[in-house]
This record gives sequence, structure tokens and C-alpha cells, in this order.
Amino acid sequence: MNIPIFDLERIQSIFENTVDYNLTESGFHPYKLNELLTKAQIETLTNTVLGYGQTNGSIPLRKRISDLYPFSDEENVLVTNGSSEANFVACHTLLEQGDEVVMMVPNYMQIWGIAREMGCIPKAFHMREENSWAPDLDELKSMVTPNTRMIALCNPNNPTGYTMTKEEMLEVVEIAKSVDAWVYCDEVYRGAELNGETLPSFIGMYDKVMVNGGLSKAYALPGLRLGWLVGPKAIIADTWAYHDYTSITAGIMSHIIGEMALHPEKRLEILTRNRNMLNENLKAVKSWLDQYGELFEYVPPKGGGMLFIKYNLDINSTELANWLREEKSVFILAGDCYGMDHYFRIGIGERKEYILAGLERIKEALKERFGI
Ligand SMILES: Cc1ncc(COP(=O)(O)O)c(C=O)c1O
Repeated sequence: MNIPIFDLERIQSIFENTVDYNLTESGFHPYKLNELLTKAQIETLTNTVLGYGQTNGSIPLRKRISDLYPFSDEENVLVTNGSSEANFVACHTLLEQGDEVVMMVPNYMQIWGIAREMGCIPKAFHMREENSWAPDLDELKSMVTPNTRMIALCNPNNPTGYTMTKEEMLEVVEIAKSVDAWVYCDEVYRGAELNGETLPSFIGMYDKVMVNGGLSKAYALPGLRLGWLVGPKAIIADTWAYHDYTSITAGIMSHIIGEMALHPEKRLEILTRNRNMLNENLKAVKSWLDQYGELFEYVPPKGGGMLFIKYNLDINSTELANWLREEKSVFILAGDCYGMDHYFRIGIGERKEYILAGLERIKEALKERFGI
């Protein structure tokens, strides 16, 4: 097999359905169909012909998506099965063997694995915890070369919840221009900013920009498996050619529900529901963590659905996660999945009572093993 195991996803897939409390979830508590839609909309669904539909995404859906970006229309959009397929298709369209991909780290590590599978050279530039997880753009500048084909970002960032400033975004664009590289930004958490101000997209900042998006995270609809790519029209046409090989099309039901969810009023309702949950849960989780004083250190996130926490205990992060799962049936994501021992990630987008009940199990465990 010529592709590295994607540990971050695989570990969650193995255990997330076998525990009492899964605190690894990085999105929001998902909607039920009957919470999301009106009776009339559900009636529309029941009368839908289950055909293939338009394979690059229905025109109304692509129009709705393009409305979220400046200077874009439906021809700038390819609809995919989740933003993970968008990442896969984008890399296969933009990269060739031997290209360098300079990637923000920590990050959702999918692009790192795809780059390796394609015979590209992934290189990390770092976000600095001592600087509230701001990306080290001097480091980025020092790392790009004429062989750099892509600068890969995640904004808002998984796992730190950092949101880049407009100035930082423009600086990345200047660095990319200096070596004629693509800026590829995973923007799947865009819309989940805690202060309610949707971040600007990289779209429109440079002609070699491609971004992804999707309904799995900020919109709390992961089961639809609906994602997208936005970029220059000619390159989006190329991504469609790859998409013909990966899955042909996203499901017709997802096209229709996605279009309903992205109706401006509905979209606002969804983002407001999720942002309120995020702010309330963050407050509750912070007060839980803070009872332990110096044991846990964290920078409160500005966006996204998770908290990335450093712990001051003499135990490896995978060992810690395995022990909590086996002893207390509560599942956290080990920092090792990001190559960062002594950190762990928990989701803060679930229902508050569920998160707090999971944290209570951790409390019991810490008392039993460490006497704290
Ligand atoms: C940053 C980021 N990008 C992409 C994905 C893939 O999500 P999906 O394929 O459900 O849209 C995830 C999932 O956790 C993620 O965190």
C-alpha cells in the first residue's frame, strides 16, 4: 500500500462508536432532518427522484456556495463528498511528484498523507503556542523555494482554533507569489468563529488560490457528506475531471438539503445555534480545566469546534487516551496524532451535559491514578 495510514481519522473511526463519551468529535452536535427542515421541505425530499443529478453539483447548490465567496459564480465551484474528498481532489489536481508542499502544523494531517502518497515533499512550518498559536510566517518565508507548488493552510485551524488576521493572510499570499505557488486553504471551519464575524476567505486575494468548504463542521451536518472546492474556473474544470474518478458525484439528497441549509436565513440560524453552543461550552470546559490550576494549559480558540490542551503529567498522550478509554470509556484525541505529545484535543461542539459528563469520568480517573 502506497499511502500512510491517516492516524488522526483512523483512530477516531475505530473507537468513536464504542465508548460512552466520545470527546474527540471536532464538529457540532448534528441536526436531525426534522429539526433542520420544514414539513414542506421534507415533502420535497420524499418526492425526489433518486437519480445522479448534476455530477459537479446542482446549479442552485453551486450558486448558493459561490454566494459565500467574492468574485465567484457557480463555475468556480465543484461539489464533493465532504471536504475530505475536496482535499484529495485538489491535491491530485494541483500537485505533481517531486513538488514541495509547505504546510501549517499542527493541522488536520490529510494533505500531509496525500502529498506523501503522490511522491511530493511535505514540509512543516509551525504555529507558535507562545504567540497564541499564530503561524510563524518568517519560518514559512524561509522554507519556500522555487519547487514549492503549494502552501497548505487550515483556517480556522484544526486543532488550535486559531484564526488568521487579514494581514497574516495577505502576507502568506505575498510569500506564495514570491515562488509562484498555490495557496490552498482548508476553510471547513469558516462560519464557526466564536465572535460571530465570519472570516474572510482567501478567495479573491490572489489568482492561484483554492479553498475547500463543507457542511460537516460549522453547519453541523456531517452525515450529508457535502463539501466543495472553490477556485479559478479553468482549474475547477480540471478538478471535475478527477472527481469523475473518485466518486462521480455527491448524493442527490445532499445536493437538495445542502441548498436548503445554505439559504441565507437558514444559514444564519444554523451558524447562530452553533456559535451559541460553542461559547457556552467553552465557558463550561474552561472552568472545568481551570480547577486543576497549572495542570492544563490552553489558548482559548477563536474558531472551530475544539480545544487543544497541553497537560503537565508524566504520561505519553496515546497512553493517556488509551487508558481513559479503557478504564472510563471516555475518548480524547492524543496529541500524538498531530506529532505533539503531551497535548490532547477535545471537542467542544457537542451538547454541554454530554461533554461535562465525559469530563467527570476524566476527573474520576485522574483522582484514582494520580491522586489529583
Ligand atoms: C480541517 C478539516 N478538514 C477536513 C475535514 C474532513 O471533513 P468532511 O470530509 O466531513 O467535510 C475535517 C474533519 O475533521 C477537518 O477537521
